[in-house]
Amino acid sequence: MARRYTVVTLFPDLVRDAMTHGVTGRAISRGRCKLDFINPRDYAGNTRGSVDDAPYGGGPGMVMRVEPLRASLDAIKSGSPAPFVVGLTPQGRRLDQAAVLDLARHPHLVLVAGRYEGIDERFIERDCDAEWSIGDYVLSGGEIAALVILDAIIRTLPDVLGDDASAAADSFCGGILDWPHYTRPARIGEQSVPDVLLGGDHAAIARWRRKQALGRTWQRRPDLLERIALEQSDLALLREYQREARLAEGDATRDC
Ligand code: ADE
Repeated sequence: MARRYTVVTLFPDLVRDAMTHGVTGRAISRGRCKLDFINPRDYAGNTRGSVDDAPYGGGPGMVMRVEPLRASLDAIKSGSPAPFVVGLTPQGRRLDQAAVLDLARHPHLVLVAGRYEGIDERFIERDCDAEWSIGDYVLSGGEIAALVILDAIIRTLPDVLGDDASAAADSFCGGILDWPHYTRPARIGEQSVPDVLLGGDHAAIARWRRKQALGRTWQRRPDLLERIALEQSDLALLREYQREARLAEGDATRDC
């Protein structure tokens, strides 16, 4: 059955419009997943449609009220199997590819995008199954976080990317960064595509790509390498990359 994604947001158009492009737009139009929206303003429970109020204890900004959010969830839950509800806040666990793959397992995911200074903590505590952040910075609302999560999830669904292998080769699938990519022309001024990619030797190409992926992870994100156990063959490739990198730096004396 097609996955269902519901975004609880005061700005449904913002999310809907961005989702109509490229991979996500095609996934939706081809029925690989369904996307719908609930606007808490429709459940404000007051004539002014206000969904926020001043924070207890004082201080700047406004806080999103529990009742409109809870009523939004009630509207979603009626008539569907229990969805998995995610609150989007900077206080949540930081998203990574493992979390994306885990979220992608749920048949129905609800993403609650907060606005203002934050969401009343009682909603997060009682009504959300998880709380995720997309990074250590503060956005003006959870909509962009919802877009990031939906995009990352949808590209992992079966039959969404032209070639399912391209999702598996993405950076972070397998815990390391992707290898460098090139397309025509083979030469632009002094910049040329590595010879191995032009030769048609598929085993040599696969070896070169793996070595580059390991090497650039070591150079750019050593923290990722610390989290995975490399096979002997990968360790050998990485050592080869490190030797070459150090030689290129003109510093063959430092050990790895
Ligand atoms: N809302 C505001 N900032 C956010 C962040 N970094 N991640 C998720 N939701 C947010």
